[in-house]
Amino acid sequence: QQRNLERHLGVPVADRTALILEIFAARAQSHEGKLQVELARLQYLSTRLVRRWSHLERQRGGVGHRGGPGEAQIELDRRMIGERIKSVKARLEKVKRQHGTQRRARERSGTFRVSLVGYTNAGKSTLFNALVKARTYAANQLFATLDTTTRSLYLGEAGRSVSLSDTVGFIRDLPHKLVEAFRATLQEAADANLLLHVIDASSPALHEQQAEVDRVLVEIGAEGIAQVLVYNKLDLMEPSQRPRSLRDVLEVAPGVRVPRVFVSSLNGEGLAALREVISEFAATDLALNSDAAGFTLPDGSIAPPPVEPSTGRPPHH
Ligand code: GTP
Repeated sequence: QQRNLERHLGVPVADRTALILEIFAARAQSHEGKLQVELARLQYLSTRLVRRWSHLERQRGGVGHRGGPGEAQIELDRRMIGERIKSVKARLEKVKRQHGTQRRARERSGTFRVSLVGYTNAGKSTLFNALVKARTYAANQLFATLDTTTRSLYLGEAGRSVSLSDTVGFIRDLPHKLVEAFRATLQEAADANLLLHVIDASSPALHEQQAEVDRVLVEIGAEGIAQVLVYNKLDLMEPSQRPRSLRDVLEVAPGVRVPRVFVSSLNGEGLAALREVISEFAATDLALNSDAAGFTLPDGSIAPPPVEPSTGRPPHH
């Protein structure tokens, strides 16, 4: 069908996976991101070989014949791609090991880790920037972020710093191979103590997008991590739809209550409330950890007394 359409329309035709791959390829910035895209592209290509050459096989390969020019060409291509896949995988392994070391160092240092997750274009990078005042790339396009960025965020309210990570955007029906290829990037989310689930409150499809993100979270084993729902783009909401309070608690399932904060990453509204919620989670974590660790830090010094959250403990689910 792709070939026929190309012939008829006189333009290149791509299926959904190829299109997503093309966007990914254009956006990848880090070494790891680029390798992941290349691996996904090669794997995609190898599944397409058969179809590309099958017309030759049908012409030549009759009963009793094994092979034909089609098959020989497929074998050659397949071997080349196989070699390339092996080498990219090896390089990717090396980068992952380095990242693993960095992550373990963060874990050992007892840093409270917060990850931004959300459907593509929900505004994660904009929120990330607004919170840490860094300059991550934010643009009105799909998958502007392909690499995880992590910054330290000081919360005066909790008297401590937390690490904040921006992650790749989620998308409905991300082809399975791509989920595989980007697992390492998504895995960052699974390693967090708290997830900020950023939702585009102005999107007509916000419920579907939210459900899709939750589905991917289950897939990467992150469903048990505490979540804060961050309804972003408050400035785009109709005045009649605006919430009475910027902060409330939403019952997402019977007995499952999740804190929700309305923000506009663009004009800064609601960010103070969000920092407050993060602080409460971080302070609770510090209190729990110092109970267990007996107030002694790894370097032998004594930890400061835990700061009590100002407005009670955040509801867990
Ligand atoms: P991916 O990298 O694709 O996952 O996107 P993202 O979730 O990081 O979204 P990003 O921060 O790139 O923002 C997407 C678009 O939404 C940009 O055009 C932002 O300017 C816009 N945007 C983000 N937050 C707000 C907001 O609070 N209000 C309005 N009006 N626009 C926003």
